[in-house]
Amino acid sequence: MYLITLDSETDFESWRKAARALTLHQIAPADVTWNVQGRAKDSVAAGLCEASSFPPTETDSTFSVPANFIELARVAALHRDDERFALLYRLLWRLRSDHDLLEIRTDPDVAQATAMAGNVKRDVQRMRDVIRFREIGREHKAHYAAWFVPEHHIVEFAAPFFARRYADMPWSILTPDICAHWDGHAISFTPGIRQTEMPAPNRLEETWRRHFRPNHLIMPEAPKQRRRNLSEASILEPLLADAERWTGGRVPPWPEAPMKRKSAVDNLEALREEAAHCRACHLYKDATQTVFGEGPKSANIMLVGEQPGDKEDLAGHPFVGPAGQMLDRALEEAGVDRKKVYVTNAVKHFKFVPRGKIRLHQKPNTPEIRACRQWYEREVSAIQPDLIVAMGATAAQSVFGKITPIGKNRGRLIDLPDGRKALVTVHPSYLLRLPDPQAKVLAYQRFVEDLKIAAGLQKKAARAA
Ligand code: URA
Repeated sequence: MYLITLDSETDFESWRKAARALTLHQIAPADVTWNVQGRAKDSVAAGLCEASSFPPTETDSTFSVPANFIELARVAALHRDDERFALLYRLLWRLRSDHDLLEIRTDPDVAQATAMAGNVKRDVQRMRDVIRFREIGREHKAHYAAWFVPEHHIVEFAAPFFARRYADMPWSILTPDICAHWDGHAISFTPGIRQTEMPAPNRLEETWRRHFRPNHLIMPEAPKQRRRNLSEASILEPLLADAERWTGGRVPPWPEAPMKRKSAVDNLEALREEAAHCRACHLYKDATQTVFGEGPKSANIMLVGEQPGDKEDLAGHPFVGPAGQMLDRALEEAGVDRKKVYVTNAVKHFKFVPRGKIRLHQKPNTPEIRACRQWYEREVSAIQPDLIVAMGATAAQSVFGKITPIGKNRGRLIDLPDGRKALVTVHPSYLLRLPDPQAKVLAYQRFVEDLKIAAGLQKKAARAA
């Protein structure tokens, strides 16, 4: 009997190496016990033979497995089931004599591994959907932290997504398994936080300070295999897509119950209600109310503005004041039906300074945009638009997750990392502010031209429906 001990729960490379050596030595799955360092295993005490005691392999002995097995195994190996490494070795063993085994979806081993990959994939999606960063550590340099409890060993796998999406803000994702940190250049990992120490939202900063004072983030004493840089980690990211392709999203979860998918409309109503109590930045203090996005849940176009103005703040609806009227006119001229688009803002509270009876609009700053971005992201995941139109610099910063110049990017479709398209254009209130009437006419025409791209997409979608 052989005992293979992997360095960590996510040490797929060691599994792969060991599995290959075991297969070449004709060691049957029933004769192998898989363990992970730190995991208690009675069999360890039973004095099993360590893998290092294999006889040397024949140099020319080799075998090949289908590429989609490696793709599947990499994702399924992140499942929390302790038996997953044994299952994957059993599959590998059987693949040698039955190269097309993975095509037999009803085979119990194939079905189980496939379902495990599906569960992992869903957990990654859940992490993407629910992670909400809170700003902490203001007195030094802003840092953002979120608490998350993964069902599977997905944190290292999922971290590159957050690094790309929140590229310009330093963040930490704290979990009971492992904590991921992004400093703007590289991802690093430190040990997890015990679940009993799970921080309440308003205690997140305290927990973060206790475990990771800022200069401890790149911990020299952290075990080497726990530190990865982005380029290495980003190799993993496409595998998620591979897993999705492999599992086809059709395989029922195993062994957990299927996650219920709320309808977009439920999500939106819940979001609106939650956003009404948002305290992620200070803007709620002076604003009348949160002005959330509006539009049909079936919208395939999402328009994003900067923040509600004076009128919107009082009415509780986006784009109902002068900028909204300008927008309506341009949309109509471009051939976009406003009733069919979802309209929202990057920042959901009115930021202003009082001047007598007037409330003077103030541009939101980066921390305010970042604090509010969670709502934009959750609106995107509830609406699932094909096209997101960013009107003005604030909207563009929120849509792209970084400062994005308008002039250089406007008027063409840009691919977003999640597969959607973005269109950048000016904000309608920029047109209102232009003092020169001729410049105003020209700028307005260009704005309409930009919106015609959205109109084209809306018409195409209507034809396809
Ligand atoms: N400007 C915006 O960006 N949004 C509104 O809702 C109104 C004005």
